[in-house]
This record gives sequence, structure tokens and C-alpha cells, in this order.
Amino acid sequence: MILSKEEEAMLRGDEGEAAKLAMEILVKVGEKFGAKRLVPVASAHIVLAMYKSIFDAGVEVCEKFAAMGAKFCVPTTLDPSGMDTEMWREFKTPEAYAEKQLRVAKAYEQMGAIMSWTCLPHFSGSAPRFGEHVGWTESSAVAFINSVLGARSNRETAVIDVCIGITGRTPEYGLHLQENRYGKVLVKMEIGGRALETWEYPVLGYFLGKTLGSEIGVVDALAGSPKMDQLKSMLAAAAASGPLAMVHLVGITPEARTRTEAFGPNQSTRTVTVTEETLKTTRSEMCTVKSAKIDLVAVGCPHYSIAEIQNVVKLLAGRKVADKTEFWIYTTKQVRDLAERMGILAELSALGVKIATQTCMLISPVETWGFKTLMTDSGKCSYYAPVQCKTDVIFGSAAECVEAAVCGQVLPQQAPSGLAGVPKGGAA
Ligand code: F3S
Repeated sequence: MILSKEEEAMLRGDEGEAAKLAMEILVKVGEKFGAKRLVPVASAHIVLAMYKSIFDAGVEVCEKFAAMGAKFCVPTTLDPSGMDTEMWREFKTPEAYAEKQLRVAKAYEQMGAIMSWTCLPHFSGSAPRFGEHVGWTESSAVAFINSVLGARSNRETAVIDVCIGITGRTPEYGLHLQENRYGKVLVKMEIGGRALETWEYPVLGYFLGKTLGSEIGVVDALAGSPKMDQLKSMLAAAAASGPLAMVHLVGITPEARTRTEAFGPNQSTRTVTVTEETLKTTRSEMCTVKSAKIDLVAVGCPHYSIAEIQNVVKLLAGRKVADKTEFWIYTTKQVRDLAERMGILAELSALGVKIATQTCMLISPVETWGFKTLMTDSGKCSYYAPVQCKTDVIFGSAAECVEAAVCGQVLPQQAPSGLAGVPKGGAA
């Protein structure tokens, strides 16, 4: 790889032991992927942050870098923590687990991280602009910034993300190069020209992730004017059910003003058609049971916006959550504070809804509660919950989730449409 003078100095150790180690790792990764050089990044986002998935080895890596005097040289945000950093006892987080998570937080504080603890740094003050190179982990965020903002990031991995924050560089390969950003697969929407309902966005995303894998699709086209929250949930589901890092949404993606622009010099290699039946079948696949007593309703994957929380308040219409049912909303600390200022937090609390911040149902120790069936409006959560939360899962719209929370169950006649014939244990 060709390195700049500054990068060579880092590799020699002129900038300290931590920068030397980080640069050595990045050069090795770059060589493996055939990168010719490193590219400066505007920001880094780190997934090596939640104890539930990084385990003791991850804690040691963070502490090792901190002990070596590592400092982030570009704005570097953190993915959610493995627990609500303030109310972790209320959420039954084991003490030994919390101690490890707090050590991770301390190490990143020393390194100068932005303690954002969210999978939505792009909605929380760290949005990259069109064409800007960044080095981010968190699959949902990477899919969003490539596909909606036109920024450039590969789906980086844990540890590499820390090295990118320390050096301000990432190997130039994959989606950093224009030639790798063009579409390959045409996705035709054949649902009668109608706009998708909000709950259908994660269903479409789930289908796209599963069907496209790492090939870049060109969705021609989504009708109507999708909201940022709808695109957020669609791309999170797409990046969960497959290795998708970018999809062109004709008329939305800055590099896909037209279908021709999205494909660039490529010819479409195959065509995928999305019909009403596709959406119905995919929705069924997102559930492991079709009706059940619900002991946890968990929404906010990705973290809920204030508008999504307002929608829950409206749907509840003053009704209380059923006894023996938990209803949790995951969001950022900033959105929670906003909800408090607006009086919504007190209202939700009085109705039995808990708002957890800076973490989520999949990366906190939810399994310690022994829940049997979780209901969610998140495609990403529906994919991972059976393994991460050790529960059955029912996917439904926000309105269906609220009804389940109020009734404490989903009865066969109330089951979300499209669930007929779902075999128990059949998802994820
Ligand atoms: Fe975010 Fe947790 Fe979902 S990190 S995308 S809320 S799995």
C-alpha cells in the first residue's frame, strides 16, 4: 500500500504506541482487501461497545488501547451500550455484567469518544454529507448513510472501527470506490403503484436483505414520499437479514436520481419482483408464532424518534399496559429528554410504559427476565430476538404492538394479517 508521510510516521510509532498498533492493523486489513491506499475519514462509529457481544476480550481491547494512551483524532461515536447506563438495575442487569460495561465506558471516555450510545449517530449530530468517507460499524447505520445520504462507508468490524477512530483513516476498498457503488440487481415494485404502509418498510427491508445479500440492488421505485423513520427501519431490517451495506432507492439515493444513473456502467444481472404476496409471505417469516400471550412488547430498533414516541402516545389513547406485560421503548438520551420536556415521558410512565435509553432489547441482558414471547415493530429485532432474547417473536405494526401491550396477548383473530400458517419456531 502507498502511505502518506503522516501515515508512515504513525506506522513508525512517531504518534505513539496506540497509533502504531492501529496503523499496523489497518495496513494488514487494507492489504487483505487489495486496497492501494488509506483514505482520510470524517468520522468513526464504534460497535466494540456493548458487553453482551464483545465479551471479556472486547473489554480488554478497549482498556489496552486506553492504557496505551490512544486518543481519537476524528469525531468518534459509540453504538449502544449493553445496558441502560443510568437505570440498569431497574432492568435487572447483573452486577458483574454492569461492572464490565462500565469499564468499557471508562476506557472510551479516556480516549475522547463522543459518548452517544446510539445506532443513529447520523440522527444525533454526526451525519456525514454526500460523498464523504467515514469508517462506521453498525450495519443499520452504514446501510442508511450509503443509501440515503450518499456518504461512503464499508460495514466495518469491531476493533477495526477503533483503529479508524485513532488514525482517522480507513483502507480504500469496497464502497469507498465509485466503481463498487453501482447497482447490479433490479428490484421492481409491483404493488399497484401504492405507497407502502409504515409497517411494510421493515418487511420490504427484510426481504431485500435476504434476497440481495451483498449485491447492490436498485429499487425502482418506492411510491409516495417515504419518511426518514420509515427508511431507517427498512434499511436496519435489510442489513440484519443479509450482508447488505447499500441499496439504490431510485429518486431517494443521491447517486440514483434515475435507474440509469443507479446502474452506471453495469447491466442488471437479474430482476427481483416485489408483489403483495412477497410482503405477506415475508411478514409471516418474521414471526415464530402467530398468536400468544405477550410478556414483552419492545420497540425502538433502531432507536425511536420523538415522532415515533408521539405515535405510541396517540395509539395508547390513555389505556394502560396489561398486568404482567412489559412495554419498553428504546431511544437516545436526547430523545428521552425531549419527551420529558414535552410531558410525554410522565404520561407514558403513568400508563406503564418504560423508556430505556442508550441500549436496546438485543444487546442488553433481556434474557434474564425469562420472557417467552416478544412483540416488536422492528424487522431487525424480529430477525435477532429468538437468539438474542431467547423468546418467540411476533412482528407487527406499531398499532398492533400497542394493542398487544394493552391486551397482554395476540389472539388468533387479532393476529397481524399475513400470519396464517406460521409454524412455531420457524423464523430467524
Ligand atoms: Fe440499534 Fe440495537 Fe437495533 S443497536 S439497530 S436498536 S439492535
